[in-house]
Amino acid sequence: MSLIKLIDFKSLGDERGDLVALESNKAIPFEIKRVYYIFGTAVDVSRGFHAHKALLQVAICVSGSCKILMDDGKGKESVTLNTPKQGVLIDTMQWHVMYEFSADCILLVLASEVYDEDDYIRNYKKFIERVELLND
Ligand code: TYD
Repeated sequence: MSLIKLIDFKSLGDERGDLVALESNKAIPFEIKRVYYIFGTAVDVSRGFHAHKALLQVAICVSGSCKILMDDGKGKESVTLNTPKQGVLIDTMQWHVMYEFSADCILLVLASEVYDEDDYIRNYKKFIERVELLND
């Protein structure tokens, strides 16, 4: 199965322009408890470098573009995000890295839980150990 789970959003566009509305448990496959966004990213900066034990997230590039690499400990795949009409699911236990941010990139992230540092795995070796444990 692909590591890249894209979600296409319906745009309520008309001659005035586009409008995308996102609701919990509809286009977004979880209850949204937190929203954050990344912008003004300096040139050549990569972010992320972690996985989550339980958190689900959908990342949407509402302006500009960036790339995101997904790694489940067995394979890696990356995708370019460059439209507000599509989101990518960051699943549990997916090590992810965001990179090649355009200067105008605004990356909006919808999350299933409030911020909890204990849910993060920030060490790649520990991530692989947990992947192996879960596969046993
Ligand atoms: P960090 O995890 O380093 O961001 P990224 O994964 O994009 O590289 O987060 C930067 C800081 O912001 C860090 O101190 C944690 C804090 N933070 C919050 O307080 N709340 C949040 O919802 C997020 C995502 C981060």
